[in-house]
Amino acid sequence: MDLGVGIKELVMVSNRLPVDRAVDEDGNVEWKTSPGGLVTAVEPIVQQLGCIWVGWPGDAGSEAMEPFDVDRMRLVPVSLSTEEVEEYYEGFSNGTLWPLYHDVIAQPEYHREWWDQYVKVNRRFAQTVAGQAAKGAVVWVHDYQLQLVPGMLRDLRPDLTIGFFLHIPFPARRLFAQLPWRRPIIQGILGADVIGFQTVHDAESFRECAETYAGAPTHGNLVMVSDALDNTRQVIAQEFPISIDTGQFAQMAADPDIQRRALEIRKEVGSPKKLLLGVDRLDYTKGIRHRLKAYGELLAEGEIDPEQIVLIQVATPSRERVDAYQLLRDQVEVTVGRINGDYGSLGHTPVVYLHQGFSREEMVALYLAADVAVVTALRDGMNLVAKEYVACRLDETGVLMLSEFAGARDELDEAILVNPHDIEGMKAAFLRSIHMPPREQKRRMAALRETVSQNDVAHWAANYLGSLAAISEQRSTVVDA
Ligand code: ADP
Ligand code: G6P
Repeated sequence: MDLGVGIKELVMVSNRLPVDRAVDEDGNVEWKTSPGGLVTAVEPIVQQLGCIWVGWPGDAGSEAMEPFDVDRMRLVPVSLSTEEVEEYYEGFSNGTLWPLYHDVIAQPEYHREWWDQYVKVNRRFAQTVAGQAAKGAVVWVHDYQLQLVPGMLRDLRPDLTIGFFLHIPFPARRLFAQLPWRRPIIQGILGADVIGFQTVHDAESFRECAETYAGAPTHGNLVMVSDALDNTRQVIAQEFPISIDTGQFAQMAADPDIQRRALEIRKEVGSPKKLLLGVDRLDYTKGIRHRLKAYGELLAEGEIDPEQIVLIQVATPSRERVDAYQLLRDQVEVTVGRINGDYGSLGHTPVVYLHQGFSREEMVALYLAADVAVVTALRDGMNLVAKEYVACRLDETGVLMLSEFAGARDELDEAILVNPHDIEGMKAAFLRSIHMPPREQKRRMAALRETVSQNDVAHWAANYLGSLAAISEQRSTVVDA
């Protein structure tokens, strides 16, 4: 992957490091790849460029840890106390911002103590970066957990070029308006030089909020930010749709061992005529309940034969201490149990439910095994699973069912689009996908593959980092002159 951007030093900052630290009962430390699309997308870039990566190692109450090296990355851990995990991470990040930014699918909670911890932890991240970054470095801050970091960092280190990328949706202004701390959040993000969003719509909503809550005029994709001395800075705020390392997925999909494993998977689930697949973090934004409802009704109505069709639902454990996630898990597991109890037989399970993480190889084998990938998010920044499925379908067979409310919808026109709230529409889409003739599959999948291979993660990173590099270059020319 050649990114072709001339950046001398890159510092990545995200809530989580790309690896998670887990300590077993005997005190042995194990590092595992962190969950979620952020790491999937960003990791291949830094594997190539090398970087310092500042983030939380994922366990509560860990004492201060020294930086350490993994491949071409220098990882700098930021520790969080138990209280900070509860109030900054589970509280403000995932109990306030996550539901608010995902169209209030769950009710956001607004607590002043959570906000105080958010400010405190954001400051710690900013100070850590300020202590690590070389003069004139490019710093790339990621996601909703760290929206104050760009502003704080600009105050601490005006020499840095700062990017901010929001991996999740940015809400419409009338929803964002609910947030008691809407002004400092907008001002914090505006500390960046380049602000990236997943879709045109997200970027538009942000620019409207910048005008309303920071009094910052906008011209096209530019936001004019004035400081106390009336100096004006131009900030780029636009869409940069994220993607995957398409080549790597395609290469894995061509691996004979992985192809063999795909055949094995089909046998293990009873050699169904059609295999459907859902892969999601167990998150209420992913529409897993809606998907199961539609599938269950089709079984109940005899529209699909439980002996011939299997749905594998991979539901990756996520944010397990947050109430809304515990409730969702209970609801999903009761529904899966009911469907299997009512329509299963000794030799056949209509829903194979897997609440666990898998290796990348196993994920690719699952994508290869599946005739239909089912993405029914109620709201999703992008949804990389949709792109991964497409990247793996080398023979141009298979059908992607895709929610209209996932960012990926803007690019993947040839998917079977669904409104997950419309259960009758979802049932029709399931039937259409299951029965789609091979020629139509091929036509649609070829077009989808073309899109995903053109706009891969290298393209995303080169565009985004290219904008940052240009600003960094300009700045160093001005300083040198
Ligand atoms: P999100 O970022 O909200 O989790 P995405 O679909 O954008 O959603 O990204 C999810 C990423 O996590 C994908 O790269 C997917 O392959 C990976 N993933 C999801 N579930 C698992 C799992 N159980 N085991 C391993 N990887 C997983
Ligand atoms: C999404 C978010 C990431 C987050 C990931 C996993 O992809 O955009 O910022 O890291 O989910 O969630 P977690 O709360 O486990 O970090």
